[in-house]
Amino acid sequence: MRFLDTMTQTHLVGISGSLRSASYNTALLRAAFEGLPGGVTASVASLKGIPLYDLDDITEHGTPDSVNELRSAVRQADGIVFATPEYNWSVTGAMKNAIDWLSGGPDSPLDFKPAAIIGVGGGSGTARSQGHLRDILGHNSLCILADPQVMVRGLGRRFDGFELADEDVRSELGLMVNGLLQLVERSRSTERIEMEGSVLIVGAIDEVADKAARSLVERGYRTLQASSVIDAERILSKRAVAAIALDPAVEAADRARINSASGDLPIITLTDPMTVGVTVDDTLRYGNATG
Ligand SMILES: Cc1cc2nc3c(=O)[nH]c(=O)nc-3n(C[C@H](O)[C@H](O)[C@H](O)COP(=O)(O)O)c2cc1C
Repeated sequence: MRFLDTMTQTHLVGISGSLRSASYNTALLRAAFEGLPGGVTASVASLKGIPLYDLDDITEHGTPDSVNELRSAVRQADGIVFATPEYNWSVTGAMKNAIDWLSGGPDSPLDFKPAAIIGVGGGSGTARSQGHLRDILGHNSLCILADPQVMVRGLGRRFDGFELADEDVRSELGLMVNGLLQLVERSRSTERIEMEGSVLIVGAIDEVADKAARSLVERGYRTLQASSVIDAERILSKRAVAAIALDPAVEAADRARINSASGDLPIITLTDPMTVGVTVDDTLRYGNATG
């Protein structure tokens, strides 16, 4: 199987909806990540230990570490492979619960992410579960690979212990990864076009940021917003942003990380949201950046 050559480093994350250590779906996921092309890495994020989503618990104790780790693994990945078992004609509770945790907030790591769905099950090869998963992920506008649909029947018959022992399935997995890498490349170029010449507003998404965005749009800029340093770094790694409007409330450590990710982009401290457009104009014209 020849894989698509990618110029940029790409990372895929796999999520298996089974908590079993001897899960066939996790084994299928691992087989999909064997022999990836140069420049492509992959990891499997575990759903073991992710508690049930309970808003009362979150209010009292905050978001658990296991969930923060999962959110960050998904955010840092360029594409996701979901391996979904079928329980009672649908996705497992573990899978749905994980998506409930991942899907929330203005900066969900699932939003617009390229993804593929695979699964191994009984008679229908997880067809129903995969259909339901597609519907659920529609909430966050994921870009899901249409073909090939890797629906494996026969469970253990396809495996030798934990090793995939079916060459037809292996080659379908190769086609799936190749298709997913193409989706990732396409989403990168769309993202680059959308970001070209944009001003990145970093800080809380609040009234000040809204006013700044409006003032920039009035002067003909596109704007992007990042409410977390991880989002800002991800956007800055694409290098298509013209300038950064930085909320003064951004903490020193985050400010330093944004500084080091920004290269030579001008950074404007967002003191007056109404004049930020003029300041960006001046800075871009006369190169008068402030740190
Ligand atoms: C509660 C439950 C419901 C199940 N329902 C289905 C089903 O609707 N369709 C199916 O193909 N297999 C069903 N199975 C069988 C699973 O496909 C099988 O247990 C499979 O090995 C689970 O995936 P895993 O090996 O990745 O854990 C069910 C299993 C359990 C425990």
